[in-house]
Amino acid sequence: MKIAIDCDDAAVNLKKVVLEHLKRKNADITDLNYSGSSPGAHYPEIGYNLALRIKNGDFDRGILMCGTGLGMAMIANKVETVFAGVCHDVYSAERLVKSNNANILTMGERVIGPELAKTVVDAWLVSEFAGGGSTEKVEQMRKLENRSFHPDSGD
Ligand code: RB5
Repeated sequence: MKIAIDCDDAAVNLKKVVLEHLKRKNADITDLNYSGSSPGAHYPEIGYNLALRIKNGDFDRGILMCGTGLGMAMIANKVETVFAGVCHDVYSAERLVKSNNANILTMGERVIGPELAKTVVDAWLVSEFAGGGSTEKVEQMRKLENRSFHPDSGD
């Protein structure tokens, strides 16, 4: 599984912790370290860049971090095919993939400590979409996503 990671200036320390943790686990992880159109890029540009790389198929999943995780999730969800969610606990991190089939995890350095962040990432990493009763709901999200991005498609 190819994973991309990035952060804004509010989550530099958390990104370092998570990146080193995943490298120690031999995960296929790439730090995009996106600098944007000008020095000091903000979370919208950074999050959008990573989400586009997921959409383009360069990576299977992504991790985005900012102060709260909120801005990163919001901007990532503006990219077609991307489902992103903020998780600061292990149960949510599991359900994000098992139930919601999301491809981006976001976290906030101002919210979560480094040790909990590592366990959240571990839970997210080993989780796979469970299908079953969640399939219809995720398909419904895809249909509605299609309606938003392609309003003239007739769906
Ligand atoms: C700082 O720019 C802060 O607003 C940002 O990192 C993030 O928390 C936004 O959601």
